[in-house]
Formats: sequence, structure tokens, C-alpha cells
Amino acid sequence: MNWGHIDRYAKSLIKEAGHQIRVSFYQQIDVETKADANDLVTNIDREVERFFINRIKRDFPTHRILGEEGFGDEVQSLEGVIWMLDPIDGTMNFVHQKRNFAISLGIYVDGVGMLGYIYDVMGDDFYHAAKGEGAYLNDERLSQLEITPLSDAIIGINASWVAPNRHIDNEKVIELVKACRGTRSYGSAAIELAHVSAGRLDAYVSMRLSPWDIAGGIVIAQEVGAVATNLKGEAPGLLGQEPFIVARPGLHRDLLTNYIKLKQ
Ligand code: IPD
Ligand code: CA
Ligand code: CA
Ligand code: CA
Repeated sequence: MNWGHIDRYAKSLIKEAGHQIRVSFYQQIDVETKADANDLVTNIDREVERFFINRIKRDFPTHRILGEEGFGDEVQSLEGVIWMLDPIDGTMNFVHQKRNFAISLGIYVDGVGMLGYIYDVMGDDFYHAAKGEGAYLNDERLSQLEITPLSDAIIGINASWVAPNRHIDNEKVIELVKACRGTRSYGSAAIELAHVSAGRLDAYVSMRLSPWDIAGGIVIAQEVGAVATNLKGEAPGLLGQEPFIVARPGLHRDLLTNYIKLKQ
């Protein structure tokens, strides 16, 4: 497999899609809801996914594509080459803020992440990594993450974690919020993974993410030494929705051991 070629191809496809998204603000954007009233999707999410799929199918006919909006393949195993794509991660931000959303893409072979991309479209920040070759923000290589104690850490966590819920021991999360330096919530899992990789956040946790939310970001995060798992500490399965955590190495263990407890 010519990974250099696939890497250049994917980067140029993402840049082209980013341009299409920026231009879309000059046209009508139709907003619909999916699973519930706050789960938004637009014609642009769908158009961008179709754009990727048409190109990838034409130029790499043996590869499969797992895309959020469902125009790709029905993927039930991780065999072969799979492009895991979220055409717009952070659709609510796209609709309400016209910023703070990203294109997220991971290219995996037999379940192993080879290439990862997160493109913050309006910030024009392009995070990318190839397995074993380091991670970059635009042309700048990202540094390896160093150990940070929880008392100095900023944790990416959504306010829903401190509201009563079925999955998590709330008391422990409240302790976590008090013990860390601060919390942030950006509304795009991909951008939050990018922030962890760039050292701007020290950890990010989410109750339920899909493969396309995290596939690209995991490749980038691993290149700088971050640890990305489900809440049992296992590698994400990438075939369905799962709770997710990514953090600096020591902090990952501290959070899972002492603060983020699934209810039995
Ligand atoms: C969502 C965003 C959000 C996360 C949700 C995702 P979408 O993706 O990443 O930050 O909390 O779980 O579904 O629907 O905007 O692509
Ligand atoms: Ca969505
Ligand atoms: Ca998403
Ligand atoms: Ca999306």
C-alpha cells in the first residue's frame, strides 16, 4: 500500500471539502433533527459525506467507508481498509456558531489506525498524523505529552456528567471537577481530541461516541503519547457507540482508577 499517496490524497480531499463547507455559508442551510430535537443534521453534512464517498469509491474501489450520515458501507468488521469519516463533527456548532466544528477522518487497516486527520475548518487548523511518524498541526510537529498531575489539569467534560444519570457515579465526577484545575466543553469530540494532542486539554471524556467521532483523533493522539480507551481501559472497539476517554498517560490511569466509575 502506498501510504504516502493515500496521505496526500486524503489531505487534499479534506481541504477541498473544507472549502465547500466555508462556501456553504453563502447558501441556504437546511437543518433537520435526527434521534431527538437536539440532534441536528444539515444538507451540508450529507453533501460533504457524499463528496468524500464518491471520490474514495472512484479512486480506491476496494476500500470501505464508514460515514456518520450513512451513505457509506455497512461496516460490521474491521477487516481491510476502512475510511472512518465524520463530514462535520460538531453540527450544533456549525449551525449555531458557524465555527468550532471539524472534518474528522481516520484510515484503518484491519483495525489498526494508519492515518488520522482533524480539520478545524474555520480556524484553518489541520491536525494530521501517520502511524509511527509523529503528529502535526499544519506544518508544526506536536510535542510528546508530559505527565501532569490532576491538580494542574484541564479536563474536557460535558456538564451532563454532573447531572444524575444511569451510567456514572456522580459523586466521583463532582470530586473530579473539584480536584482538577478547570473544565472545558467544546461541542466537537474531534476538536477536543485535537486539543488533548496539542496539550491544550489534559484529558477528554465522553459518555457515548461513535467510531467516526474518534477514529482520526486516536491516530493523532497516540502519536504524542496520549492514551485513548473506553471506560474499562480497553482499546475502543470502533464498530459501535462506546464511552470514551483520552488523556495524558499518568492522568488516564488516575481518572479511570479514582474518578470515572461506571455504575455496576
Ligand atoms: C457530536 C459531537 C459532540 C459529542 C457528540 C457527537 P456530531 O458529533 O462530537 O461533541 O458530544 O456525542 O455525536 O453529531 O456533531 O457529528
Ligand atoms: Ca451527528
Ligand atoms: Ca461526530
Ligand atoms: Ca457529524
